[in-house]
Amino acid sequence: RRPFTVLAVESSADDTCAAVVRSNREILSNVVIKQNHLHESYGGIHPMIAIEAHQQNMPLAVQRALRDANVDITRDIDGIAFTRGPGIGGCLSVGSNAAKTLASALNKPVVGVHHMQAHALTSVLTSGPDVPRFPFLTLLVSGGHTLLLLATSEKSFRALATTRDESIGRAFDKVSRMLELKWSTGGPGAALEKFCEAAPTSTLPGVPALPLPMPKKLAFSYAALHSHVERYIHACGGSQNLDLPTRQALACAFQTAAAAQLEEKLLLAIEWCNANAIRVGHVVVSGGVASNIFIRKRLEACLTIAGEEQISLVCPPPHLCTDNAVMIGWASMTRFLQGDHDEYTIGLRPKWNI
Ligand code: KG4
Ligand code: ZN
Repeated sequence: RRPFTVLAVESSADDTCAAVVRSNREILSNVVIKQNHLHESYGGIHPMIAIEAHQQNMPLAVQRALRDANVDITRDIDGIAFTRGPGIGGCLSVGSNAAKTLASALNKPVVGVHHMQAHALTSVLTSGPDVPRFPFLTLLVSGGHTLLLLATSEKSFRALATTRDESIGRAFDKVSRMLELKWSTGGPGAALEKFCEAAPTSTLPGVPALPLPMPKKLAFSYAALHSHVERYIHACGGSQNLDLPTRQALACAFQTAAAAQLEEKLLLAIEWCNANAIRVGHVVVSGGVASNIFIRKRLEACLTIAGEEQISLVCPPPHLCTDNAVMIGWASMTRFLQGDHDEYTIGLRPKWNI
């Protein structure tokens, strides 16, 4: 008998995604329709515009995912998965209604998935049968979340640290906008990383290093970092008065401080695990910000410096770190295989703790 085959959809934020994945870890298709260009002038996701774009794009995404996978939905798809939450309610409802309606019409089982658990489990799909081994730590760093989780099984996650104010991704987005960087495919955060890469480190002017908020606490805070950048720009009389080296120095100071906070909290979490006799062998870094190579390198280096070489960093490939439906299909798989389905009447959970 063929491996269990899932059609999955994801529409919790601004990407319309559909994918076909199999229980033997095969990814048959992965369609992501971006809306970046529609939201650029609003400086963030505009919910009504996102909902309308999802409504237009979802049928196309599903059609393309089935076509790319070369499958027939009636014959070849065994289950349909969707993102149940957390996310923007109106956006979630587009994917959820598509999935539930298809499932009920075709008499297929349906499973609603937790978006952040799906991010956390992506590495189990992409890294091989024993990597990462449970229990493992996960840093979920995206536009919606800044979470440090302990995953003890596919179903149990313990949040060790979350953000007190805003997410690391939003802070990247805001600083990127303050510096008036042009968006690229990865959005404003990726634009900031590229901008820093181009900086000639030897000639950076004396922009002060940004602080580490809440040292020794298992909690994140990113609002203070972008406020610092904002005040600096304001004190200079606005971003139009900054020359290129100063803008580069500010971007690098921000990115370094953002990474330093992840390093400090990760080491605190490892200390906590050691104190509780929890032997962790892997740290999975996922979510949109995990595509940042500078951050990955800093995290790797901090484990070595702290003498925790036995813990290795696992990073799913960048295209599976940003929002996608492959991770939703994969996260639904265990439930499908156990026959643990949802009702067709299942509701959304726009706010949903992990
Ligand atoms: O996981 P994701 O695609 O969506 C959710 O928020 O769930 O994450 C998007 C976030 C955005 O804030 C984006 O600017 C940020 O991830 N991001 C990055 C990079 N690529 C995407 N931030 C820093 N460096 C990057 N290379
Ligand atoms: Zn996400």
